[in-house]
Amino acid sequence: MKPRSKILIIAGSDSSGGAGIQADIKTITSLGGYAMTAITAITSQNTNGVFSIFSVNPEEIEKQIIFTCKDIRPDAIKIGMLHSSKVIHAVIKALKRIKIKKIILDPVMVAKGGEKLIDNSAIKTLKKDLIKKTYLLTPNIPEAEILTDMKIKNINDMIQSAKILLNYGAQNILLKGGHLKSKYLVDIFLNKNQIKIFKNKKIKTRNTHGTGCTLSSAITSFLSCGKPIIKSCELGVKYVNQAIRTNPGYGKGNGPINHLNSIVLNRKFK
Ligand SMILES: Nc1ncnc2c1ncn2[C@@H]1O[C@H](COP(=O)(O)OP(=O)(O)OP(=O)(O)O)[C@@H](O)[C@H]1O
Ligand SMILES: [Mg+2]
Repeated sequence: MKPRSKILIIAGSDSSGGAGIQADIKTITSLGGYAMTAITAITSQNTNGVFSIFSVNPEEIEKQIIFTCKDIRPDAIKIGMLHSSKVIHAVIKALKRIKIKKIILDPVMVAKGGEKLIDNSAIKTLKKDLIKKTYLLTPNIPEAEILTDMKIKNINDMIQSAKILLNYGAQNILLKGGHLKSKYLVDIFLNKNQIKIFKNKKIKTRNTHGTGCTLSSAITSFLSCGKPIIKSCELGVKYVNQAIRTNPGYGKGNGPINHLNSIVLNRKFK
């Protein structure tokens, strides 16, 4: 098959392959897209936690975005971890030059193991300058709590927080409910006209490393092909659910999910 669409990913590398840019490339490829990258940081990590973060110089990030898009124009852009204000400003500057409308921002701030991945001034800049440029914002509960300065304990709190995020200027919000302590997990979609709740049974597993990156890349894949926003979110949630269900059980901690769940390989390698 030929790729269905082209996507630029702006995000950090996860050496363990389960989250970050690695998860993004696997997801986009498994859903039939062509993935391009601008790497913002290099992390040394495994399924037990993050060992170190090495930042890429903001000018290099800007160059990766501009030079890549000048040649192959993406249909959509997925943004993941941006760890400092300088990096966020460099990304905003580059985005102004390339003028792509479908921008999906996963405001990564905290790793699954609880480690804070970005500093406080970056959080402020994200809130003030980048969110308003996004078509879809996909925070998890701890991120929505930080961004909206409120505690989220139930679905009503999630809706309340999503409304505040909408007021920051994003066109659509998908607030992910993976951190809710209940039998059923809900992800809440909200824009000015509609609200849609995606409900799924919580799968009992500790192998959920990279669910968030995977979800935003899956949604970006569907959006980049022209699917409507709510349908794209619904299909993205389904893809992640299936990826968790079929996780390969790798690693000794929070293991990765199965990005290949959408693929059937007919060839034998032996
Ligand atoms: N145990 C689970 N069972 C079913 N669905 C889950 C489970 N954990 C997460 N999800 C789903 O995975 C998607 C990602 O949500 P989550 O809240 O885990 O994002 P995240 O915290 O950003 O992930 P990450 O830690 O990778 O950044 C959502 O659709 C959520 O409902
Ligand atoms: Mg996340």
